[in-house]
Amino acid sequence: MTEHSRDDAVARDAADPLGHLPSLFVRDDPDLVYLDGNSLGMLPHRTRERLADVVTREWGGEGVRGWHHWFELPAQVGDRLGTGLLGAAAGQVLVTDSITVNLFKLVTAAVTRDAARTVIVSDQRSFPTDRYVVEGVADAVGASVRWVESDPVDGVSVDQVRSALGGDVAVVALQHVDYRSGVIADVRAVNDVVHAAGALALWDLAHSAGSVPVELDAWQVDLAVGCTYKYLNAGPGAPGFLFVRRGLQGQLGNPIRGWWAQPEPFEMDAPFAPAADLSRFLTGTQSVLGMSAVDESAAMLVEVGIDALRRRSQQLVGYLVELALARLQPLGFTLRSPADAERRGGHIVLAHPDAATIGAALVQKANVVPDVRPPDLIRLSPAPSSSSFVEVWEGVDRIAALVASGGYRGTAVRRVT
Ligand SMILES: Cc1ncc(COP(=O)(O)O)c(C=O)c1O
Repeated sequence: MTEHSRDDAVARDAADPLGHLPSLFVRDDPDLVYLDGNSLGMLPHRTRERLADVVTREWGGEGVRGWHHWFELPAQVGDRLGTGLLGAAAGQVLVTDSITVNLFKLVTAAVTRDAARTVIVSDQRSFPTDRYVVEGVADAVGASVRWVESDPVDGVSVDQVRSALGGDVAVVALQHVDYRSGVIADVRAVNDVVHAAGALALWDLAHSAGSVPVELDAWQVDLAVGCTYKYLNAGPGAPGFLFVRRGLQGQLGNPIRGWWAQPEPFEMDAPFAPAADLSRFLTGTQSVLGMSAVDESAAMLVEVGIDALRRRSQQLVGYLVELALARLQPLGFTLRSPADAERRGGHIVLAHPDAATIGAALVQKANVVPDVRPPDLIRLSPAPSSSSFVEVWEGVDRIAALVASGGYRGTAVRRVT
């Protein structure tokens, strides 16, 4: 058995104590190589069953009476996520709305808390919605954004954040795992300098929740947002989540004054008065199907354990890097993710001048799903729960074949992946 043979990948799967995990997912096409778990996670069998049950028994059987228990879902599922995967004691995480909306709520709350602090610090290289929202909030409330520019591979440094801080900064909003390079920020160290300057620290956990251990309480995070459709496998458009540290909950206001933010939503003649606890960050009616999917998919990961998932993720991603350096680098690909496995999240990014056409050809001609981040990046993620070593091997083998033969040339580029 040679070092980078398919047999070697088969042997790795056979030796993997969590090798049964991929069989917990719907994989109707056994030939499909799905390396996009960091964009949309696959469908777990049990989540499909739970959704069918919620539709048939709860919605079909209970109708509107279901709200007696559905109403509790944002907090209940939030606690499952918070205590099970995010290192947050109960009562601090809500499953609700999207990252975009939650970011708007929390950044606005943070920058309107103290009239002397009117600056939001953020990263010019963050995911677009994160940049747009901080700019939009700044415009709306008469604040300003002070940008840092993180390194494309190594991410944001503590020194960069320190030099952007001052007595005028209200909040520092950054990504935990960078959406392009996958580098993991040193949350604890950044929080220390942010707090020393009297500001709040807000983290976007889109690419870490369900993939990388997160310790919101131990790291003294103030605010966080995240989504559930990536590594948490809750499905397209499933609701996101927000975290507000308990001690801050009474000090921050929700700029969206929805009826669910009140302690008694059904007292309909009452003027708006926000709930004292975390539920003040709710808005209006939430998706019961979406929250049920988060509940079931997150429960599955909690049972496996985030440390075991991280170990498996590091093995799969490490193997992917090894194969990519051996077989794709000679074909013009460059690794744009950290070389150190401890500093990488659940995905890597490879640069190639023809990334867009290669990405399109992989989907259309090779049955491989990666994603493309223009202008020249291909992002690959073997999800810790649904991927296998053979899938990683097949992915690299098919990319190498397609690029070596030039067979990708001329493929029409579509918008998604
Ligand atoms: C870092 C990051 N933030 C936010 C989002 C998207 O936000 P929303 O869930 O509101 O669409 C993504 C989507 O991929 C992301 O990668």
